[in-house]
Amino acid sequence: MDKIKIVGGHPLFGKVFISGAKNTALPIICASLLTDEPVTIKNIPFLADITSLNNLLLQIGTKIEAEEEFLNGHKTQKITYHTPKPTSLVAPYDYVRKMRASYYVLGPLLAKYGHVELSLPGGCAIGARPMDIHLTSLEQMGAHIEIKNGYVIADIEGRLKGAHVSFHAASVGATCNILMAATLAEGTTIIENAAKEPEIADLISMLNAMGANIEGANTSTLTIHGVEKLHGITHQIINDRIEAGSYAVAAAITKGRLELINANAEYLQTPLDILRKMGVKIEVTDNSIIVDAQNTTLHGEDIYTDYYPGFPTDLQAQFMALMCVSEGAALVTENIWENRFMHVPELMRMGANINVHGHASAIVRGVEKLSAAPVMSTDLRASFALILAGLVAEGETIVNRVYHLDRGYEHLEEKFKAVGAEIERIKESD
Ligand code: UD1
Repeated sequence: MDKIKIVGGHPLFGKVFISGAKNTALPIICASLLTDEPVTIKNIPFLADITSLNNLLLQIGTKIEAEEEFLNGHKTQKITYHTPKPTSLVAPYDYVRKMRASYYVLGPLLAKYGHVELSLPGGCAIGARPMDIHLTSLEQMGAHIEIKNGYVIADIEGRLKGAHVSFHAASVGATCNILMAATLAEGTTIIENAAKEPEIADLISMLNAMGANIEGANTSTLTIHGVEKLHGITHQIINDRIEAGSYAVAAAITKGRLELINANAEYLQTPLDILRKMGVKIEVTDNSIIVDAQNTTLHGEDIYTDYYPGFPTDLQAQFMALMCVSEGAALVTENIWENRFMHVPELMRMGANINVHGHASAIVRGVEKLSAAPVMSTDLRASFALILAGLVAEGETIVNRVYHLDRGYEHLEEKFKAVGAEIERIKESD
């Protein structure tokens, strides 16, 4: 397994191009299954999760054509997905275990072809990750669902039926799945307590362009009037707010100045407010966010993760790394996932002073210095937090299990090197 070596102590200066949003690309790629016409998606990032999903779609019988293109000065990919006739309606264990968002094939395949078999993803490092909302909502829409041999087997007679569903948690995954399924249902579906993340609004705008009739984007009540057929389109996905937030912390923690090109400040209001309160200067331009922490003393701030527009759980670990070297104490509360402090013991091995209380809160008391150590990545965002700690630690930090980072951060070493970090990948064979 590859490792990343970082020598700390270099402030970062320059421009970082923010990539297309992974968590938007995944449902949007699966939405292409709702039509038998070709769908072209632009601004898809080069990530292992995209490759995993493409492999699943190939197995379903989708024809995939990828082309590189430059968008606003950044190399990205435009991919056309075309599924005129699926050869399989099964999402096997080997695909789903590699990438749990494979479950986004559930809603589209069921709505369009009336049958799907999906391996249940199970839990992961950050929590149990149930799918009850996806499944009960589809049942309310007339699906017959059975769990057998680790698979969800879902069937419908005719079309799904519009229903009034109310989510007990504002789940991003369930909102995407039910939205996609409801576009082809007979009648109207209302989703109450839907997620409001920007990824959902992007999916809605794509589905409406394909001929769907969805009202309520950016609110917690979505109304979907089902239609008989959707058609092919070209859609450009939004940029990755979590990647942008992660590099914003990189500028802050190294006391540097980074311009995050193609980042959208509107999607990052809560984390940017926290950075401002900590003492970081933030400037927003037409197509970038400038994060400047030169000659600044940073002060710890409390954070509380919540559904959008609250503080994103996917930035909790990165901000915790920042609090580790900021003055004073900060209370970090994780409100979305039950096991999302796996980075704490690793940060403590680098000299951080963190006290975890139960599963949900941790007090971070700032220390003057972190010291380099070999550390272990546990999940995607925690891995980036360890890179951040390595950027300011004294000495050479080795981050193990880099495959987590490859799932969600495009060209990570290249982006960091270009702004002055001393970072290098050690290949398994080296
Ligand atoms: C997505 C993101 C993930 C992020 C999370 C929360 C993708 C691919 N992943 O994950 O990075 O951390 O949103 O912003 O977009 N829940 C249930 N029952 C369900 C579904 C969810 O109880 O059927 C609960 C979960 O346990 C959790 C909360 O709802 O407490 C939010 O989960 P959800 O929004 O579904 O997360 P994902 O879509 O899996």
